[in-house]
Amino acid sequence: MLEGKVALVTGAGRGIGRSIALTLAAKGALVIVNYNGSLEKAKETAGLIGEAGGKAEVYGCNVADFAACGEMIKALILKHGHIDILVNNAGITRDNLLMKMSEEDFDRVLSVNLKGCFNTMKHLSRQLLKQRSGKIINISSVTGIMGNAGQANYCASKAGIIGLTKSAARELGSRGINVNAVAPGFIETEMTGVLPESIKETMKERILLGRTGSAKEVADVVAFLASDEASYITGQVISVDGGMAV
Ligand code: NAI
Repeated sequence: MLEGKVALVTGAGRGIGRSIALTLAAKGALVIVNYNGSLEKAKETAGLIGEAGGKAEVYGCNVADFAACGEMIKALILKHGHIDILVNNAGITRDNLLMKMSEEDFDRVLSVNLKGCFNTMKHLSRQLLKQRSGKIINISSVTGIMGNAGQANYCASKAGIIGLTKSAARELGSRGINVNAVAPGFIETEMTGVLPESIKETMKERILLGRTGSAKEVADVVAFLASDEASYITGQVISVDGGMAV
């Protein structure tokens, strides 16, 4: 289904990003496993893809670094000739109540989660316009739609991703480029693993399906949006949240 396509997945060393990388590769794409911190974890993702018979490469780059993102995109285009799918998945949290939140924690979360999406999209857009095709999928969050106490920085970044996605969809649509966002709910990963049990239980009560989601359940929707089957979907925010934001 994605044979011959090159897909760049940011923050793909673990969690949802790893699952997206594995799923896109299983559908035939050559996946670039982007990472910032751990080369080992990125290699692990690429290794799992290889074991399953897929194709993957690793590329280290901090998505918050505008120039480094430019270098990454340039190098990948030089090597492969094209990039067809961009999944902006890299994200961080620095939770605190607004009253106690430091300026540094606000700026850091915005620079990775929101500016990181801008950095890759900006540098890739010229190539996609030339190709007259491409799929961009940005990972937002249910909290970008609903807000969440203790996560003003994170929610602002995830709401910002929705505006960025819709604007890019408007700019790029006439050239056959689809830009969408996926808004996951409560997904079991290392990011949510650190939450206290009491908060987890309260969150679960809000989920219509009565359970948390898996990284694979998010990855399957991303893979759909990256495929030709989703060719008439653009500028949308697809919630994968078990009905949390209904
Ligand atoms: P995670 O913390 O397990 O994975 C995030 C990945 O991003 C890590 O591999 C990390 O190294 C990478 N990363 C962080 N900063 C980076 C940078 N500057 N440059 C490149 N890579 C960087 O988190 P998880 O749960 O897998 O989340 C993935 C995405 O899904 C994030 O954008 C997160 O905000 C979003 N999300 C997660 C939800 C959940 O319940 N787990 C719910 C809604 C959204």
